[in-house]
Amino acid sequence: MSSAGISREQWSTRAGFVLAAVGSAVGLGNIWRFPFVAAESGGAEFLLVYILFICLVGLPAILTEFVVGRKTGRNPVSALQEIGSGLWRYLGWLFVLTTFVVMSYYSVVAGWTVRYALLGLEGQYAASMSGAEQQFLQVGQGIQTVGFHALFLVLVFGIVDLGVQRGIELAAKLMVPVIVLILIGLAGWATTLEGASEAYSFYLSPELGAVTAHWTSIVPSAAGQAFFTLSLGFGVMLVYSSYLGEDRNLVTDGSIILGLDTVVAVTVGLIIFPVLFTGGTPPGGQGVEVLFTSLSSAFGGLSAGGAIGAVFFATVAIAALSSAISLIEVIVSYLVDERGIPRRRATGAICGALFVFGIAPAVDTDLLELYDGFADGVLVVLGGLLFTAYVSWMWADEAAEELSHGITNSNSGRLSRCWIWLVRVPVVTVLVVSLVLGVAEVWGECPHI
Ligand code: PFF
Repeated sequence: MSSAGISREQWSTRAGFVLAAVGSAVGLGNIWRFPFVAAESGGAEFLLVYILFICLVGLPAILTEFVVGRKTGRNPVSALQEIGSGLWRYLGWLFVLTTFVVMSYYSVVAGWTVRYALLGLEGQYAASMSGAEQQFLQVGQGIQTVGFHALFLVLVFGIVDLGVQRGIELAAKLMVPVIVLILIGLAGWATTLEGASEAYSFYLSPELGAVTAHWTSIVPSAAGQAFFTLSLGFGVMLVYSSYLGEDRNLVTDGSIILGLDTVVAVTVGLIIFPVLFTGGTPPGGQGVEVLFTSLSSAFGGLSAGGAIGAVFFATVAIAALSSAISLIEVIVSYLVDERGIPRRRATGAICGALFVFGIAPAVDTDLLELYDGFADGVLVVLGGLLFTAYVSWMWADEAAEELSHGITNSNSGRLSRCWIWLVRVPVVTVLVVSLVLGVAEVWGECPHI
């Protein structure tokens, strides 16, 4: 492994790295988006397509970030400056931009989850859908929302400021097991609900023909979801693997991360749908508020729904926190490594800037939706596309060589070549298609002159 010769912190254990990456992957994307995308797109058939994408697109793509991070031992901006030529050298800045845009609204949505946890504790969920929509209008935007956005950023600051081992790694070791255990417990509780069996057949039984009939929408949404949920296209996995102290089997680590992320996403559906079916709230709808309005009103109609809803939303907030720290780390690592700025000052400055940048989406949900569509549909996919294309076509020999380190199997050379071709063709093709569709969608939503 080569490094830039800068003294940097490293993960203290392999589990620390894997859990931190799982913490980044498991977030609002798994809870807020996955079950709804899955249900709208044919349930079990979507699950199959999604799992196929996770293996064929997600795994090869996550490995591209891992090899560049481990090989260079640097933050995304400097890593690209090191391995890139010409304009590619500036690609790391796109990651910084994407991270900044996503984080500014991610912390606003995370603030909503904290408020919904508190509303549950106070037993204040509206029991009707119209009441829940009214409630969301108060929670979703306004001065209090700005306050919770600030509170969330203070929590993020508190963890990232402590550094890689004492901050991010320790937090992930505590948070990820808590998230998984609580979600499994809640899924067990959900089996006891009246609407459970109806919910399972809605969520899990295949709708024959749904995938073939709607493949043009299912394919990009499965690909986009696979990218967002694995935190790809941001440089997060690159920066996390840059803190690896030794060569290990990245394919194994990547598979564990993908497996746990998928288990969490599927489990969340096993909680949400029984609650919605029992509460009589239709599991459809779109928009950033859908998780909050439909679920809170369904919880509002269940006995002990307030307390259980509080546990659920608090778990979502923890998942958002473990993801948010990884987003901030992308920029902090650059300022610390390259600009020599002390970690505390760098983290404080970024959290402060994000606070200001997030005020607009905190007071206007439509703007938040626009940020989300632009970041998720365009920036993430563009960054992922340029990065995977560069690594697999222009930096292929180094990438294949780096991947083979730590793989003891005698076929590691062939495995690495095979991986490069998976990135070159299926991953890049899927990203090109998703980018075209994403740009078309954002264009369609923009107000035209
Ligand atoms: N993977 C996170 C989720 O599914 O919510 C979102 C995310 C977190 C994306 C951190 C990117 C990132 F850097």
